[in-house]
Amino acid sequence: MHSLALLEGRRTVRLFEDREVPRNLLVRALEAATWAPSAHNSQPWRFTVIGKGEARRRLVESMSLRFMEDLLNDGVPRSEAELIVSASKERFTRAPALVLFCLARGDLEDYPDERRRSAERIMGVQSLAAAIENFLLALHALGLAGCWRCAPLFCPGEVKAALGLPEDHEPQAIVEVGYPAERPEKPARRPLSEVLRLVDFPS
Ligand SMILES: Cc1cc2nc3c(=O)[nH]c(=O)nc-3n(C[C@H](O)[C@H](O)[C@H](O)COP(=O)(O)O)c2cc1C
Repeated sequence: MHSLALLEGRRTVRLFEDREVPRNLLVRALEAATWAPSAHNSQPWRFTVIGKGEARRRLVESMSLRFMEDLLNDGVPRSEAELIVSASKERFTRAPALVLFCLARGDLEDYPDERRRSAERIMGVQSLAAAIENFLLALHALGLAGCWRCAPLFCPGEVKAALGLPEDHEPQAIVEVGYPAERPEKPARRPLSEVLRLVDFPS
């Protein structure tokens, strides 16, 4: 497949076949993730592959409890919150594989001032995001698909406790992985003209 067609053809998939993800393909896609650019080549990413077992059950349960608490605090009626949480839980439970992406804070440069510490942290998050995109593209190239889910950002403590992660790991995203059981339509994109500004460059 042409590289640009690969980039434009990748879609977020939320429904997967009930089929295991071959270990070698998952490893291959994670290797591709490590070829992402990173600030000072710091590679501040850590991957945790979660199969279908007790750890996943624990993880999904504790994330769901926290999600429910947040929704109720927002004033969402309990019956509505239960539907939302159970749909999220169902997806995390059914996905053939989950990959948690963490920012390894220990790999970041330390600075004495908050301005540079904050910039360095953002660089770390940007580097990790580049790795996640590489991973999604590699899955697509291998006939698999994924859905990037932001849930761990809202309950990092629960995720770390459920999986026994080291202190400096900062959970950033979970990607659900599997063979696609749907072919989503292309979601609309803002036209380039709306997001592009040319400065001293011919139009
Ligand atoms: C940072 C980030 C967080 C996302 N979180 C979620 C999520 O929690 N649940 C979900 O279903 N999709 C999530 N997505 C997927 C987006 O909804 C999806 O990329 C967007 O709708 C465009 O669709 P496409 O990926 O098929 O082009 C996330 C994507 C990104 C980049």
